[in-house]
Amino acid sequence: MTSTSPCPPDSVVAALRAAGCVFAEDEARLLLAAARTPDELTAMVDRRASGAPLELVVGWAEFRGLRITVEPGVFVPRRRTEFLVEQALAHAPGASVVVDLCCGSGAVGAALADALGGAELHAADIDPAAVRCAGRNIAPFDGRAHEGDLYEALPGRLRGRVDILAANVPYVPSDEVALLPAEAREHEPLVALDGGSDGLDVLRRVAAEAPEWLAPGGCLLVETSERQAPTAVDAFARGGLAARVVASEEWYANVVVGVRP
Ligand SMILES: C[S@@+](CC[C@H](N)C(=O)[O-])C[C@H]1O[C@@H](n2cnc3c(N)ncnc32)[C@H](O)[C@@H]1O
Repeated sequence: MTSTSPCPPDSVVAALRAAGCVFAEDEARLLLAAARTPDELTAMVDRRASGAPLELVVGWAEFRGLRITVEPGVFVPRRRTEFLVEQALAHAPGASVVVDLCCGSGAVGAALADALGGAELHAADIDPAAVRCAGRNIAPFDGRAHEGDLYEALPGRLRGRVDILAANVPYVPSDEVALLPAEAREHEPLVALDGGSDGLDVLRRVAAEAPEWLAPGGCLLVETSERQAPTAVDAFARGGLAARVVASEEWYANVVVGVRP
C-alpha cells in the first residue's frame, strides 16, 4: 500500500507535518488510500492533524499481518502486543481452545486463530463497543464475542478447557493515566487503560480465577510494564500457576506467562 500508492499531495504531507506527525509521508499515503472523495480526504487530514490516532481515522490497524477494524471508543491494538501472541504460540502451538479476555478489538484472538487454524475462539470484554468491534474481527475465524465482567462473560462449558487464555488487561496505574500521550487519553476509554492504584487490579482478578478455566498445561498470558512484572508473577503464583516473565527488547514488551500444572 505504501510504496505503490500514488504520491500524496504536498499539501497533505505539509498539513500532517505541521501537526507534528513524524511519518507524515507514510500517513498521507494511508489517508489518500482510505479516502473515497477529496472532501473525505480533507476531513481525515483535519481529524489526524487535530490529534486523532491514525488507526481511528482510517478505521483499521495492522496486527500480525491482519487488518484489524478499529472503531471509535475501542482500544487501538499496539504492535508490541504481537509479542504476547508469539509467546502464546510458542507455549501452545497445538491449542484448540483460545480465549481473548479483555479483547478490545479482538486483535489478539484473531491473530491467534489465524496462526493456529481451526481453534475454537472466544473473545470477551466489558465494553459493548469493544464486543461489537471484536465480533467483526473474529467472525472470519468463527469466533464468538461475549459481553461481561471478565469470566462472567464466558460460556460455562469452557471451564477447564482453555489452552490459551490471553488477557491484555488495562495496566496503567490510575495516577499515571494523565501522563499518557494525548492520543490514548483523549481517544481511548478509561476502562481500557486504568488498572487501579498499582495498575494490577484487573490482572490480579484474572490470575486468581484462571486455573478454573485453563485446561491442564494451558497458559495465561498478560502484558505488564517491567516494573510491574514481579508483582504480577506473585499474583499468578497465588492463583496456583507456574509463572515466568519473558521480555522483548525489540518490542519493548514484558509478558507474564503462567501455566496450569
Ligand atoms: C488495554 S485494552 C486491550 C485490548 C486488546 N486486548 C488489545 O490488546 O488490543 C483492555 C481492554 O480490557 C477491557 N476491560 C477492562 N476491564 C474489564 C473487565 N472487568 N472485564 C472485561 N473487560 C475489561 C477494556 O474494555 C479494554 O477493551
